[in-house]
Amino acid sequence: MQIDHPTPMLAGLSPAQFMRQHWQKQPLLVRQAFAGAAPPATLKALAALAARDDVESRLVTAFDGDWQLRHGPIARLPAMAKPGWTLLVQGLDQHLAEARALLDRFRFVPDARLDDLMLSVASDGGGVGPHFDSYDVFLIQLAGRRRWRIAAQQDAVLRDDVPLKIIANFKPEQEFVLDAGDMLYLPPGWAHDGVAVGPGCITGSVGFRASAAQALAAELLPRLFDEGDEAGELYADPQQQAVAAPARVPAALLDFARRAVEAAVQRPEALERALGEALTEPKATVWFEPGEPLPPGQGACLDRRSRMLYDATQVFLNGESFRAGGRDAALMQRLADARALTAAEVAELSAEARELLDQWTEDGWVQPQPS
Ligand code: SIN
Ligand code: CO
Repeated sequence: MQIDHPTPMLAGLSPAQFMRQHWQKQPLLVRQAFAGAAPPATLKALAALAARDDVESRLVTAFDGDWQLRHGPIARLPAMAKPGWTLLVQGLDQHLAEARALLDRFRFVPDARLDDLMLSVASDGGGVGPHFDSYDVFLIQLAGRRRWRIAAQQDAVLRDDVPLKIIANFKPEQEFVLDAGDMLYLPPGWAHDGVAVGPGCITGSVGFRASAAQALAAELLPRLFDEGDEAGELYADPQQQAVAAPARVPAALLDFARRAVEAAVQRPEALERALGEALTEPKATVWFEPGEPLPPGQGACLDRRSRMLYDATQVFLNGESFRAGGRDAALMQRLADARALTAAEVAELSAEARELLDQWTEDGWVQPQPS
């Protein structure tokens, strides 16, 4: 991606400028960011996805001011002519190549932060109510129109009489009506309310993920150890004296535990490996279809569901880590960044790396790239 080139997608800013000036800082409204773009899915396709139990979906209705939330699978949607409902379908990038392609336009942000593409479809007046999100979001109007009202308000009190997180005292400061092709970027913590203007409103949300410190630590700690690892030094207490209070935890055991945890974090590459594996772990709803080894003379591309990252010494794919060096490392990094290798690049892989690539195509993580 040309990170220093101005682009209509970011209102004439380059990705580099956008990140400096807006990312996590200021909203940005972009008229015709995606001029003429067709939604990656029609209402019919979204309804079919929402009916599946391996797709995350929600139906929000506010008929006569009565807010209701239903989690999918959703067998039947209300009629488009009936105002006041919206269907939200998560993870479209896992299911549709067109949705993955739209998400790929945002790869000027590290993949480790990019989460998924959600699509919402709404009848006139449909929306999820004024709320906060704790993540950055690009809201792309893909069909129909939606009125967005936003505010930088501090008052975060929520209503306690509805099944959704709706702000009790929303005080909008700015208002924009988005037409198909327009986009609104919001940093985390901005109050916002999007209401469909007319039927057939389809909005895409490019979502990001941010780890909370404690949750990340809890996820990484068990991953710091390999199955083959030695059990390590055994706790020993030759100085332990007889105790009159047998239930008290010995101070020496607490010290031993602290040293064990510190040593685990400091093992060379263990934390890097744990982080890479955790960040590329597929979501619970993702499954891969097994394939054949890569045919000779073919290029390869990552399956749209695959998550691939790398650091200085390792590559990570779908929750697993692999060590790579020299030319193989450069090619694997290229596969992660470009999400594809040409036939010529595949031919440059060592026999060992080529075997790995075949294994990945058999697992369905990598697909042959039609030339
Ligand atoms: C929507 O598309 O209706 C909701 C998106 C959001 O406000 O986060
Ligand atoms: Co939101």
